[in-house]
Amino acid sequence: MRSPRILAAGLTLVASVTLVAACSGGTSTPAAPADDAGLVQGQQIYSQNCASCHGASGQGGFGPKLAGTVTVKYPNIDDQIALITNGKGAMPAYSKKLSAEQITSVVRYTREVLGTN
Ligand code: HEC
Repeated sequence: MRSPRILAAGLTLVASVTLVAACSGGTSTPAAPADDAGLVQGQQIYSQNCASCHGASGQGGFGPKLAGTVTVKYPNIDDQIALITNGKGAMPAYSKKLSAEQITSVVRYTREVLGTN
């Protein structure tokens, strides 16, 4: 007979796999203009770090919609940079994972490419 402890661990695993599956998916991220290195880097960072929760085109998912909303909600880009650096609620902090320059690139990408497609 299986012990309840192993069963509980199994259930937790199934739950986390389901959560990851719900977060990922979607198509590829909208292309950044090839002549803007910062936005090209931002697209790459977005698809690797953010698209799983916010959707490939920023349409929202586990995290809120970003496309077309961030410039309205955060007229000052510094406020949006601070949010991604420090995190908020279920939104992870990126201060240890990304450099300040990378955070600026991904924030620019959400403001200048997502929502304009
Ligand atoms: C684990 C899922 C997850 C990941 C990964 C994630 N976010 Fe979030 N994000 C959230 C959640 C949930 C919120 C809502 C937080 C709140 O308001 O309490 C949020 C909020 C935000 C907001 C504020 C939106 C608003 O309407 O106020 C921005 C901007 C944002 N995320 C950008 C990003 C960027 C850029 C990345 C990648 C570097 C990222 N997020 C990665 C889950 C995530």
